[in-house]
Amino acid sequence: MARPVEKSGVPASRIEQWIRPEIRALPAYHVAEPQNLIKLDAMENPYTWPPALVEAWLEVLRGVSLNRYPDPDAAKLKQGLRRAFDIPAEMDLLLGNGSDELIQMINLAVAGPGRVALAPEPTFSMYRMIATSTGLTFAGVPLAGDFSIDLPAMLAAVEARQPAVVYIAWPNNPTGNLFDRSAVRGLVEAAPGLVVVDEAYYPYAGHTLMEDLGRYDNLLILRTLSKVGLAGLRLGMLIGPGPWLEQINKTRLPYNIGVLAQASAEFALGHKGVLDEQIRRICADRERLIAELRRLEGIQVYPSHANFILFRVAGGRAVPIYEAVKAAGVLIRCFAAHEGPLEDCLRVTVGTRQENDAFVQALRQAL
Ligand SMILES: Cc1ncc(COP(=O)(O)O)c(C=O)c1O
Repeated sequence: MARPVEKSGVPASRIEQWIRPEIRALPAYHVAEPQNLIKLDAMENPYTWPPALVEAWLEVLRGVSLNRYPDPDAAKLKQGLRRAFDIPAEMDLLLGNGSDELIQMINLAVAGPGRVALAPEPTFSMYRMIATSTGLTFAGVPLAGDFSIDLPAMLAAVEARQPAVVYIAWPNNPTGNLFDRSAVRGLVEAAPGLVVVDEAYYPYAGHTLMEDLGRYDNLLILRTLSKVGLAGLRLGMLIGPGPWLEQINKTRLPYNIGVLAQASAEFALGHKGVLDEQIRRICADRERLIAELRRLEGIQVYPSHANFILFRVAGGRAVPIYEAVKAAGVLIRCFAAHEGPLEDCLRVTVGTRQENDAFVQALRQAL
């Protein structure tokens, strides 16, 4: 029965009655407003395309039929992705509206009463959020002090919790490191259910477990085009054995990859050399930025195999330093609200040389 609506909108009691308690307890995923700041907070590739390439892309878009539904299987795009990323012919490929959506699809396929998703922490925060919203119980296992994987603790948790799915970001976000390959393999061998190795930062790390796909029947690999310069497209890939992907595909909403995304991604793959060159430049600039940060006093810089760098400042100073860097025009990510291993930590995405220089100058002053 409809209740009279309070001036503020919906009565709180109605929200409490109908929204699941675990959803009410979730913090909303917060994305900072970029305003006019230099945006080094979201692991984006800072480069756009040369004007001639933009023109050629717009020409392709002119031919796209917006009145028609997209190819639900995105068959042509999948062929291009297989070629561009050396996906083994015997493995299946599933596409998502970003890799976030694929995480949601995997979880929907395995969720049920008492089912657990497990990951080392700190890691990509969406593993926990999506597990909760899809009805899984999330179990986080602390990383070791140097952010390496604590294999005995992970194996003990796998044994105790029997997770339906384990998520390993490889390299890890927000720590930037690449866990020991043999530790990841050890987990795949020990896990009773799926192990999803999330290679979102593969282009910046150059290491992959793709070759292990045929060797382990419970291993799936997740990739995304977001970090290579196409974050706006929202295109993620799940790669793995057909029998798993066939089931997970049933949780996919039809037409999840729109016509504009399909046409644009196909076009971009045809000019992958441009993206590869941008990535080479970002990798070189990452090394330069790490070296410059290491020259600053009062911060601890962590190694990175990704397109971002995590660093720790003196106790209690992360928020004032974040604010001072922002006031100087550069937006980075602050983890001060996180207790424990990320306390006093900040994360910066590698930008253009100019952006990196502006950031170092702002940080130097803030310190
Ligand atoms: C480890 C990891 N996986 C997945 C994602 C999400 O990528 P997408 O843009 O494809 O949803 C991110 C984004 O930050 C990430 O850090």
